[in-house]
Parts: sequence; C-alpha cells; structure tokens
Amino acid sequence: TPRWLIVPAAGSGRRMGAECPKQYLRIAERPVLAYTLDRLHQAFPEAGLCLCLRPDDNHFTSDWVPFADYRRVPGGEERVDSVINALRAIEPLARDDDLVLVHDVARPCVSIENLMELAHHAARQPNGALLATPVADTIKRDDGAGCVQRTEDRRGLWQAQTPQGFRYALLRRALEAALSADGIGAAMVTDEASAVEALGLTPVLVPGRRDNIKITHPEDLALATHILAAQRP
Ligand code: C5P
Repeated sequence: TPRWLIVPAAGSGRRMGAECPKQYLRIAERPVLAYTLDRLHQAFPEAGLCLCLRPDDNHFTSDWVPFADYRRVPGGEERVDSVINALRAIEPLARDDDLVLVHDVARPCVSIENLMELAHHAARQPNGALLATPVADTIKRDDGAGCVQRTEDRRGLWQAQTPQGFRYALLRRALEAALSADGIGAAMVTDEASAVEALGLTPVLVPGRRDNIKITHPEDLALATHILAAQRP
C-alpha cells in the first residue's frame, strides 16, 4: 500500500465556469473534495496525505479530511508545480522507495477496487503505473482552421486517468527534470506518467473503469452524482 497520497486540488476550474473551484461544488450537500478523500481513505487509511491547495483558497476546511496524517501544501502555477511542492514538503520524511500515489481531486468516482489494483501494480513496477481506459471514440486531429487534418489510429490509444503511482525518488527526478531548462516543460506534464516517459521509461497501463470521470465541465457534476449513487451498495 502507498506510504503517500498527493491530491492536487489547486486548479482554478476555469472550464467549469462556476464561481467556486470545482472541488467545492456540492453533491448532496458535500463537496466533491470530500468524496474523493473518503474513497482514498477507505482504500488506504494509513497513508500520509498531501493536499495541494491554492494559497488564497477560502473554501477549504479540514472537516472534510478523514486522514490522521495530513498536510496542506501550497499549489503552484501548473498542476506539476503543485505536485512538486508536495514532494518537496515530504522530503524530510520520505524514503526513496516509498510508494506515492497522485490522484486528481476532481475524480471522486474512482472505485476502491481500482485504487487497490493500481497500488498493487505500481508497487511491483520499477517505472510505476497508471489507471487508463482504451479510447472508445474516433479521434480527429484538426488543421488549425476548423477542418480535419487526419484521423488518428485509435488502436493502442488510451485515456490516462488517476491515480498514478511511482516510487518517491523516480517521481521527484522525473518532475524536476521535466521542469528543468532542457525538460519538456510544465504545459506538457498534464499527468505524472508523461514526465516519467520523458526519461525514456515505460509506466504500466492498468485498465480502469470508465466511470472514473474527471469533473471538468458543468454537465460532469450531474454525471458524477449519478455514478456515486449507482455505486452505493
Ligand atoms: O485542470 P485539470 O482538470 O487537468 O486539473 C487536474 C487536477 O490538478 C485538478 O485536481 C486540479 O485541482 C489540480 N491542479 C493543481 N494545481 C494547478 C492546476 C491544477 O493542483 N496549478
């Protein structure tokens, strides 16, 4: 099981178009963030949690955090900056081979079973692991002027989800390298695996459930509400 959980929750939620960040939108009176942390806690009650929050976040209260071992870390400009801040914050406590899972706060519907599976694989793979699903739609690339340039071959294409799990030292090295002068840059690091891949390493794809959606657009909140209700035993 993972020693550390990093939950980046410092995004602005611009695409949501709501006045408060998406992790604070309510599903049956509770914010999305509380559901996400509950799932993680059910799977890994002993892990240490790092929650990356915007320094000016005035919605958060620790009432929603079920973990005994938890710290609040300031989020950065981009998602990768937030995750690096968390890795730096736990440096005095973390060992190189500690397993670290990173999970988007905006994915409250992740199943306990998928969390366990991902942790199982990440612990056994030297290059880490991520939940993902095979691409179901036909994928077009545009020509920059609103027309189709080409259709991508979707065979072998996957949609990356979270959590993604890596050893502390590898994740730290990958993210620092991505942000260094000759790295791929923060804009390209939309998940942790991409930084590990940029080192020439190959994280393992763990097939996940399609209902592990990332709440991004307004209609996603209704979808998440439905998924959570359907999952309740
Ligand atoms: O914007 P996107 O949906 O890709 O963000 C994924 C996750 O990263 C969200 O949980 C968001 O809160 C987090 N994030 C962050 N710091 C940023 C940008 C995004 O922690 N600067």
